[in-house]
Amino acid sequence: MQKLLVEGGLRLGGRVEIAGAKNAVLKLMAATLLGKGTFQIRNVPMIKDVFTMQGMLSSLGPKISLANNVMEIKVDELSGDATSKLVQQMRASIQVLGPLLARLGKVTISLPGGCAIGDRPIDLHLDNLEKLGARFFYDNGYIVGEATQLVGTELVLSYPSVGATENLMMAACLAEGTTIIRRAAKEPEIVDLQNFLNKMGARVVGAGTETIRIDGVKSLHETEFSVSPDRIEAGTFVIAGAITGDEIEIENVESKHLESLLVVLKNCNVHFTVEKKRIVIHQRRKPLTGTNIVTGPYPAFPTDLQPQFTALMTVAKGNSEIKETVYNNRFQHAIELQKMGANITLNSSSARITGVEKLVGTSVTAADLRGGAALVVAALVADGITEISGVEHIDRGYENFEHKLNALGAKVWRQ
Ligand code: EPZ
Repeated sequence: MQKLLVEGGLRLGGRVEIAGAKNAVLKLMAATLLGKGTFQIRNVPMIKDVFTMQGMLSSLGPKISLANNVMEIKVDELSGDATSKLVQQMRASIQVLGPLLARLGKVTISLPGGCAIGDRPIDLHLDNLEKLGARFFYDNGYIVGEATQLVGTELVLSYPSVGATENLMMAACLAEGTTIIRRAAKEPEIVDLQNFLNKMGARVVGAGTETIRIDGVKSLHETEFSVSPDRIEAGTFVIAGAITGDEIEIENVESKHLESLLVVLKNCNVHFTVEKKRIVIHQRRKPLTGTNIVTGPYPAFPTDLQPQFTALMTVAKGNSEIKETVYNNRFQHAIELQKMGANITLNSSSARITGVEKLVGTSVTAADLRGGAALVVAALVADGITEISGVEHIDRGYENFEHKLNALGAKVWRQ
């Protein structure tokens, strides 16, 4: 496994440009399967999950080229055999289920992989696709889905699942009649998906609210689109600026998508200015104070920034409590932070932290994408060098992470 090494204690400064959103672009790529023709997607982050999705989609038939953050996808005839090994490498693979069912009426798919941050069932996807008329059975470890014709109906999600909302939106685009999804997820990436689908000729309204209406159409066509900025990458750099106590300009960000983080950071004595597309941290080494957070579905504090925020709280004065309500095993980074001298008491769904003066660089292991980013954030302020194994997890979701940090004055390198 490759390692990332970080020299702590350096002053950061300058500007960083945020890339396109991983958790939007992977779904837009899946949505192209609903249509025919040549799609162009711009502002694509050059990250491992995109390359994996590119390989997985290509195994279904599309011809895909990607260079300099621009992707071209030519979709014509499709195979419904989504059992390539690549499917098991990330959670987003499950997003081809809805489109393939709607387009082909039959699909065989492996269970998706993804970060080991807790149970990640797909019951909300399958149960609600069945309500649209699909049938599923297991065959030799794969899921086989069949649907002669999907028919729109009213769906009520028992939990605002991001992926289930997206799969259902995509399947319903080619269903007969109208589908209403109640208690839908409201993440900004779902708004990107709605806008993309509508540019393909779909009729979707309500994304970003808890009720989404889809009026089925006969077919969908090619289009072009530019992916919105990645709010989780942006939040990671905001937290990096706060923990190092320096001046960092974060450009090309949708600041409104980070409201829940910014409100909390204000409570922690973090100093910043906010414009529509730009956030400037000017901490100037003012002391951070601890606070409590509870993660939840958007617009609550995002679970994907919980690990990075936990790292921040380890050096904030006083006590903090981090309650994780979305996943049941998303504190593996806390165990690694303890090795760096953090004072954290864990129970199954929360972490109680007492801030320490200093963290100490040592060898730690990233167990998942955002946990790995949290260890890098902590290493920026630790005494000495921190050696982070499992950097392949970080590469799944951060484009040029060490280059961006080094451009801000950090010293981060691979071994
Ligand atoms: C998306 O995952 C993101 N991944 C995750 O980001 C993010 O943490 C999550 O949404 C929540 O915001 C992508 O978009 C590729 P969910 P997803 O369905 O769609 C339970 C990252 O770091 N659930 O909203 O899988 C599930 O177990 C990743 O970029 C069911 O019980 O999230 C979890 O506890 C990590 N049954 C909760 O809902 C289901 O059928 C949230 O899952 C589906 C989900």
